[in-house]
Amino acid sequence: MTEASFPTFRPRRRRNSPGLLALTRETRLSVEQFVYPLFILPRENFHMEISSMPGQFQLGYTEAERLVDESLKIGVKSFLLFGIPDHKDCEGSSAWDSDGVIAQSLRRLRKAFGTAITLITDECFCEYTSHGHCGIIHEEGDRFYLDNDKTLPNLARQCVVHAQAGADIVAPSGMLDGMVSAIRSGLDGAGLIHTPILAYSAKYSSAFYGPFRDAAQSPPQFGDRTSYQMDPANRLEALTEVSQDVAQGADMVMVKPALAYLDIIREVKNASPVPVAAYNVSGEYAMLKAAAKNGWIDEKRAILETLGSIHRAGADILITYHALEAARWIRDN
Ligand code: PBG
Repeated sequence: MTEASFPTFRPRRRRNSPGLLALTRETRLSVEQFVYPLFILPRENFHMEISSMPGQFQLGYTEAERLVDESLKIGVKSFLLFGIPDHKDCEGSSAWDSDGVIAQSLRRLRKAFGTAITLITDECFCEYTSHGHCGIIHEEGDRFYLDNDKTLPNLARQCVVHAQAGADIVAPSGMLDGMVSAIRSGLDGAGLIHTPILAYSAKYSSAFYGPFRDAAQSPPQFGDRTSYQMDPANRLEALTEVSQDVAQGADMVMVKPALAYLDIIREVKNASPVPVAAYNVSGEYAMLKAAAKNGWIDEKRAILETLGSIHRAGADILITYHALEAARWIRDN
């Protein structure tokens, strides 16, 4: 096919009215693809703004229910739950306590909202361990490493407990080798064959998680996460991680963070046989909020453009702290 060229062809003809623009738009954001993260504490009534994430809160059970109710009214129906437990130890054992913070909030949200909501649980240990790493730590002199294979059974247990308490999807985020197959066999062994796994497959060791670590009280107490999360310089490795996770039974895969990794989202989308999620992380949220607060950017336009770029890059599912405001803007457009 040969295209006509100027002056017969004029691309600007299609941009001449809002109607024409809308008719020929190639991608669209919709509230159905949004997932809204919630930080939950084991309290009844509790509500505290996270200073590095203006507009986001740590919530007690009742406040979380109230926020879910408000979200449903504007069409946001999917939530990613993070727990902030009272008790931390070196293994993170409160993560698989059937009366732990996430298990309790799952039961309560399920009871209050039934099948109107989709609940996804972040499956990791950094919020639950005293040292803030994502599993069991093995120390050797002044070096330490995350003991991959010893952590896997704990991860499977955590997922089983959460699925039994009502999670619709479990989402392991610790970047452990073999995490998807360990979880799949744990779930299947408990008869939970219908619970899907959303694997944080390509999760980079990123500076953009800073505000989250305040919010979830999960910064590593020593060292960093570079021995388990991916090197930001790598591209092929993301595709390898995705294909490994898919081979182990991942029902959906994730790229995280989103903005500095739009190229990775596109490549994963092109290669993945399963839906692709992208996590628009805390530092990305904080940057836009800070610039908007200073009057340096138009907040609404910048946020919708940003979310649109993640979707255009190939993300089917968008996990974002902007979900509620973006849902309102899309609805009122
Ligand atoms: C691990 C986890 C992290 C985030 C989601 N799950 C933090 C980390 O890996 O240090 C970060 C999310 C964000 O920055 O918004 N449980």
